[in-house]
Amino acid sequence: MLETVFTKCLGIQYPIIQAGMAGGITTPTLVAAVANAGALGTIGAGYLSSAQLRTAIREVRDRTDKPFAVNLFVPKAVTVSEVDIQQMNEYLEPIRRELGISGTCSADGAVDEQRYVFEEQIQVILDEQVPVFSFTFGIPEPHVMQALQRRGVRILGTATTVEEAVALETAGVDCVVVQGSEAGGHRGTFLSHPSRALIGTLALVPQVVDAVSIPVIAAGGIMDGRGLAACLALGAAGVQMGTAFLSCPESGAHPLYQQRVLTSREDETEVTSAYSGKLARGIRTEFMNRMAQYAGTIPEYPVQNQLTQDIRRAAAQQQNAEFMSMWSGQGLRLAKRRAARDVVRETMDQAVAVLERLAGRSDGSPI
Ligand SMILES: Cc1cc2nc3c(=O)[nH]c(=O)nc-3n(C[C@H](O)[C@H](O)[C@H](O)COP(=O)(O)O)c2cc1C
Repeated sequence: MLETVFTKCLGIQYPIIQAGMAGGITTPTLVAAVANAGALGTIGAGYLSSAQLRTAIREVRDRTDKPFAVNLFVPKAVTVSEVDIQQMNEYLEPIRRELGISGTCSADGAVDEQRYVFEEQIQVILDEQVPVFSFTFGIPEPHVMQALQRRGVRILGTATTVEEAVALETAGVDCVVVQGSEAGGHRGTFLSHPSRALIGTLALVPQVVDAVSIPVIAAGGIMDGRGLAACLALGAAGVQMGTAFLSCPESGAHPLYQQRVLTSREDETEVTSAYSGKLARGIRTEFMNRMAQYAGTIPEYPVQNQLTQDIRRAAAQQQNAEFMSMWSGQGLRLAKRRAARDVVRETMDQAVAVLERLAGRSDGSPI
């Protein structure tokens, strides 16, 4: 049912990927439930140490013998001024006080550690013979790509423009995940200016399909079988869904966050670099509103991410959603509380029904 070049390439049943969502959301239970339902589950491992990643992989393997993926952030060299860090800490001070946090947050090590941690994470993927590796924020260096290819790991890279998709194909990825601007979470943009690379899924997918010869996976705003059928019509070989899995009981998202996903509207998300220094789409919060007033320069990722870490953590502990980050796509009204296997099953059933209905109209009767 709905076999595509992508399902064949990865040896999975259905053309659906549960997005890797870093930050504790993609629990081993979620990833394994998706894999057991016939789609591709992904461990969002961007913030995991190599030891934590190894444990997560083994916990997934305890629950499924199906293929699954690990998703990582490609490190980028950034230079951040100490003045910007100091000014940001001063600006965050009243928020810290409100939340009862003492002191400031240091950004020491944030930049240097990235590359080292990434190499260690890759080593775990190789050691543990993870079948699929996906990544965002750039392209890994050739020696990393080659090491993965030599071990037969399937590789998926993220693009937000045609140029990025072509660069990923040239670098040797097996499939390209095309992230439209509807998508929740961080933008994967690495060649364009992030605020210029906000292209909707409907516009971006067919332009990429025309420019590359590898399978294209559409991401951004796909919440059900109508979205899957539409993306197949655009020439995609599969879809990657994030927001649709946030409110599953297996998701590790904070209960308040899950509640906000279930009750927010399509006009309540915004793209912001306030939390991490990298543009990302999330449900609007008081933190975003306050940061919109900031006149200085927000330090680049991962520095800002580290500077706001204590705020996000304290807010979560205090059940204060207004200072947590709640990444989410624009398809919010379509989010439901349902088991991960039902997200996969219902999406598939609906897509097949939609495609059959449309095919049935080939006699010229009105749709
Ligand atoms: C909470 C959340 C966290 C995310 N974290 C990651 C991540 O760690 N790595 C990644 O490649 N994409 C991440 N994304 C983006 C997804 O891969 C995907 O592009 C997006 O979820 C698709 O749009 P949708 O949310 O409308 O389904 C995240 C998305 C969300 C909603």
